[in-house]
Amino acid sequence: MPNVTLDNITDVVIGSLGQNGEITPRQREIMTSHITHLHGFARDVKLQHSEFLFACDYLARAGQLCSDKRQEFILLADIVGLEVLVDMLTNVVDGSESESTVLGPFYRDNPPVLPKGASTVQKHFDGEETVYFEGYIRDTDGRPVPGVTLDIWEDAPNGLYENHDPDQPDYNLRGRFETDENGHYAFRAIRPVPYPIPDDETAGELLRAMGHHPNRPGHMHFILSKDGYRPLISQIYDSSSKWLDNDSVFAVKDSLVGEFKPAGDELDTDLHVQFDFVLKPQMAEQLVPAE
Ligand code: BEZ
Ligand code: FE
Repeated sequence: MPNVTLDNITDVVIGSLGQNGEITPRQREIMTSHITHLHGFARDVKLQHSEFLFACDYLARAGQLCSDKRQEFILLADIVGLEVLVDMLTNVVDGSESESTVLGPFYRDNPPVLPKGASTVQKHFDGEETVYFEGYIRDTDGRPVPGVTLDIWEDAPNGLYENHDPDQPDYNLRGRFETDENGHYAFRAIRPVPYPIPDDETAGELLRAMGHHPNRPGHMHFILSKDGYRPLISQIYDSSSKWLDNDSVFAVKDSLVGEFKPAGDELDTDLHVQFDFVLKPQMAEQLVPAE
């Protein structure tokens, strides 16, 4: 082992990779970059030992908060824009396909399977505005895609997702729909309202350390999936919502902003949103993650 100094410690650690056991090329690439940036960061800010101990305690506290209701590390990654960056690196947009954005921590699998046009509303709130969402799902060549599964979820007018609100029925404002033979989807829901991401504990500490508020603009979450297409995790943002230009998790994309227009007499809802998506065809082998 060479004598470590301020000048050589980064090279010594990188040089030790794989010394006592085989590692894959991807592991080597990730660990080399990780060590380079981590050491670079410590050098940059001249990290002091008391600050290092604070960071270790902070991460330990964040870990202790994780449960099936709260994934603190995803929240922390969201607050510094890391989840949206990783999403853009994973789902590169190089054609006409729709943009993706963050999944967030509130998705639940196996929502109620509902027929086209049905409502996800199981409990009503004073002042809610009902919305008819509809649109076409096409591939990048413009062909309609029938049989696409759409999982959708949103918060209630009190700003809470049902699994964080004991007063809402199980799976309220969640549903699973499918496009028809023309690639058309439709469902009834309510206007999503802005809400604060959890801002207590370590997430709150990070928000305050950055001088940020916790709020997200009103949005409807979507996961679109069908074999042979790249799954699309995305959101539709309400163009008139507060916080649209100042999202606490940096997840708003211009192409995902939709208009909540007054519904015509032919509809039984207050508002009408028309929003189309484009799915990217995907070969089976592209689904296998890189080593
Ligand atoms: C959400 O949109 O549900 C969300 C995304 C990131 C962090 C917290 C919530
Ligand atoms: Fe959300």
